Amino acid sequence: MTAPTRITLTGVFGVGKTTVAHLVARQLGWDSVDADDILVANAGKEVAQIFEEQGEAAFRQIEADAFAQLATHERSVIAAGGGAPVFEPTRRSIVESSLVVCLKATPETVVQRMEAKEQGRPRPMLAADNALARARRLIDQRAAVYALADFTVETDAMTPEEIAAEVVRFYQTRGERAFNRPGRVEQLTRTPSILPPILDAPNATTIIRTASGEYPAHVAWGALAHLGDITKRATRARRAFLISDEAVMAQWGEAAISSLREAGIEVASHTIPSGDASKSLQQAAEVYDWLASQRAERRDAIVALGGGMVNDFSGFVAGTYLRGMPVVQAPTSLLAMVDASIGGKTAVNHAGAKNIVGLFYQPKAVVADVATLKTLPRRALIEGMGEVIKHALIRDAELLTVLEARLDDLLALEPELTTQVLARNVQIKGAVVSEDERETGGVRELLNYGHTLGHAFEAAGGYEALLHGEAVAVGMIAAGEIGRRVGITPAVLVERQRALIEHAGLPLKPPTGIDRDRIHAALALDKKVVAGGQRWVLLEDVGRPIVTSDVPKDVIEAVLDDLLS
Ligand SMILES: NC(=O)c1ccc[n+]([C@@H]2O[C@H](COP(=O)([O-])OP(=O)(O)OC[C@H]3O[C@@H](n4cnc5c(N)ncnc54)[C@H](O)[C@@H]3O)[C@@H](O)[C@H]2O)c1
Ligand SMILES: [Zn+2]
Repeated sequence: MTAPTRITLTGVFGVGKTTVAHLVARQLGWDSVDADDILVANAGKEVAQIFEEQGEAAFRQIEADAFAQLATHERSVIAAGGGAPVFEPTRRSIVESSLVVCLKATPETVVQRMEAKEQGRPRPMLAADNALARARRLIDQRAAVYALADFTVETDAMTPEEIAAEVVRFYQTRGERAFNRPGRVEQLTRTPSILPPILDAPNATTIIRTASGEYPAHVAWGALAHLGDITKRATRARRAFLISDEAVMAQWGEAAISSLREAGIEVASHTIPSGDASKSLQQAAEVYDWLASQRAERRDAIVALGGGMVNDFSGFVAGTYLRGMPVVQAPTSLLAMVDASIGGKTAVNHAGAKNIVGLFYQPKAVVADVATLKTLPRRALIEGMGEVIKHALIRDAELLTVLEARLDDLLALEPELTTQVLARNVQIKGAVVSEDERETGGVRELLNYGHTLGHAFEAAGGYEALLHGEAVAVGMIAAGEIGRRVGITPAVLVERQRALIEHAGLPLKPPTGIDRDRIHAALALDKKVVAGGQRWVLLEDVGRPIVTSDVPKDVIEAVLDDLLS
């Protein structure tokens, strides 16, 4: 048997690998090495600079080369970069040349340790907002890779000295046996079924994972200042074609354009009229003409700055022009931030039907600057609250409580609260979309809570009497009432929902004059109709939606009677 002469410490960024490597090396009389130091020396650039200039994939290769080099350092304790074992060649060279010890900690511990270490140092705003979310995401994503270790230390309650002692004890008592056990290399180098994406998106609020791609969503107060940097990382584009509408361009165009230019991106912009009428094939043709005149290429990016209309329209244009150009969504309305910009549904309206021509086309990044809501018309802000309330009801009891307690502060756009609530909403929508990109696996269908009748009210009102979010609010009232009458939804919940919708200033009923026949007609046309049977999303409780087509027609009619009276 050969005794291992190297120990590699793996684990998430901030867990304390460097400190522990140093302590372990001292006890064993070995050297300690930070793999990042080696690769920085080799590349002649800092890690961040490599990421920025060359992207994550190139970084991982440089890192793998550093590990290949480290595989010949005798008697060394190596602190690996957090993402190192994600890349198969790196994982293999670590496993073949050294004992692998994973230092594990909860996201809370990691953030605490990082804060203790970084005390007094200025931190980028996005990082401060999202440190915990980020640590949680990294740990979740990489759990399966970190599990490929000879030994794991649960470090939460331990000091660095205690952790080091634990590593040394393992090495001295079981290290040689562990290193020589049969099948070890195969076992520790296998590819886990869930592999984290190699994605160049520091400080993202959440990562949306779809079959057609993975992309970060950034939610922050003032995020437009980072639009350029994020666009560059996500697309590598040197030129951006910014699409916005009149109202948004006037308020936020300059901020977006200067951020893009500061990142070294050349920008051309095009403004379309505000209002849903711009979501048309005609308008798309005009934008195609513009892109053609600018000689837009597939390696350039489209940046969509605006509400859901601009998001849907620009996504459609991006998905079709040149068979697909990268698009970055910069939503500026509440509805767009929590809903339209996430999930890749793009469309234009046609022949009087909403969103009838379109495609699933995922953006490369979403950059939601919460501060842009300051100029959003009040009615649009309240409208967006309909989807926010829906997210809480279908997925998050804690968010529902926050909304109940702090709705006024939220409507007043208190920065910290608003950012947190929106980040949570984006995570919820992102998680659902990640599970069911094309609404085929059932989960995404749950987002349609309040939408079956909501869409019908919206259509029956000619898309003017009620805005989408308002229609959804009324649709939720109806779904609550239906759920209560068929014995699925508790009366207390129906009341909580009603109180919140009312408090938000959202309607509880459709406006008078809405035609019942048109509601019936619209119901039959609803996209959620599956094989003729109407499908209803109903709540058994907060966070417990179910889908059923088993709702008697007379219950629906009775609920409509009440709502239309
Ligand atoms: N793709 C999806 O999953 C999805 C989901 C929901 C809604 N949608 C679509 O989204 C659209 C509705 O979204 P919306 O309510 O954002 O509509 P919108 O984009 O038309 O915006 C509403 C109004 O607010 C203005 N505006 C937006 N942001 C502003 C800001 N920060 N400051 C000042 N003015 C601002 C716009 O110019 C517009 O006049 C519809 O077309 C709908 O079909 C899509
Ligand atoms: Zn909706």
